[in-house]
Amino acid sequence: MLRELQDKILKLKKEKNIAILAHSYQSTDILEIADFRGDSYQLSVIAKELDCETVIMCGVKFMAETLKMLSPEKKVILPIAQATCPMAEQISPERVVQFKKENPTFKVVAYINTTAELKAVCDVCVTSSSALKIVSALDTKDILFIPDKNLGAYISSQLPQKNIVLWDGYCPIHDAVTVKDCIEAKQLHPNAKVLMHPELPPEVLAYGDVIGSTTAIINYALDTDDECIIGTEKSIADFLKLQKPDGKFYLLSKKLMCPDMRMTTLSDVYAAMISDSGHEVILSDELLAAARKPIDEMIRLGG
Ligand code: 13P
Ligand code: SF4
Repeated sequence: MLRELQDKILKLKKEKNIAILAHSYQSTDILEIADFRGDSYQLSVIAKELDCETVIMCGVKFMAETLKMLSPEKKVILPIAQATCPMAEQISPERVVQFKKENPTFKVVAYINTTAELKAVCDVCVTSSSALKIVSALDTKDILFIPDKNLGAYISSQLPQKNIVLWDGYCPIHDAVTVKDCIEAKQLHPNAKVLMHPELPPEVLAYGDVIGSTTAIINYALDTDDECIIGTEKSIADFLKLQKPDGKFYLLSKKLMCPDMRMTTLSDVYAAMISDSGHEVILSDELLAAARKPIDEMIRLGG
């Protein structure tokens, strides 16, 4: 049944010249039919090079918007309109504009998990895999980092030469993990290496052996012979178990499940392809141009 649907999708993809992109957090059945899979940074770079008329983005809304900004001539579809990243909506653009007025020496760095409207008032975007490189390459000492206070605190700890101001944004999924979760996981698996995404709170990151983006975590876990405790969304632990059946991978906490990233099913992808459902990303020319600037700046500084 699943295989049948996958075959239908693969056939339709060719007939209609549709590309399917999937964030690494998507389910395995979706990752299997995707043309490209990756973390937020990889997907942004791929978006610029796509040769197709329509792109289906399996992930959450800010990812589909980023694709549209980088490939404005293409039709970009998010299979489920309600799949959003709660962190992306946590800070209003007006607050940033006000801050910039009052603090002209600051550059505003936006995590890519932000709305198009928020990107439009920021100087440069970063992803978890590019943040360190890009923030250190900025020509100002004074930086406002939004919205993720946890990723911002991690970058700040690595770059003490920068004056990084943080606001109170966070990923509700990663931020819910506690020191108690780390102690319990370490007690159960004392020999395991702890791999952590920098969206986790600083006191939790203190237990990490490796801190990095989704891709960094996957690469480390596939390369090592050590057992690994996976400190990011459960889908990554599931993916690793499939890729390396003899590997030993344990999820840091059961709380690490993002409902928005799990909303899209293979049937939703098919329905979006036959135009039964799905949400086409439409951005005004003005918003698109303004929001694209910090993404282009990220790619320029990170490339
Ligand atoms: P990546 O930057 O690793 O793709 O992560 C995005 C995200 O939403 C993590 O929760
Ligand atoms: Fe957003 Fe967190 Fe879900 Fe990633 S895991 S999409 S940051 S809510």
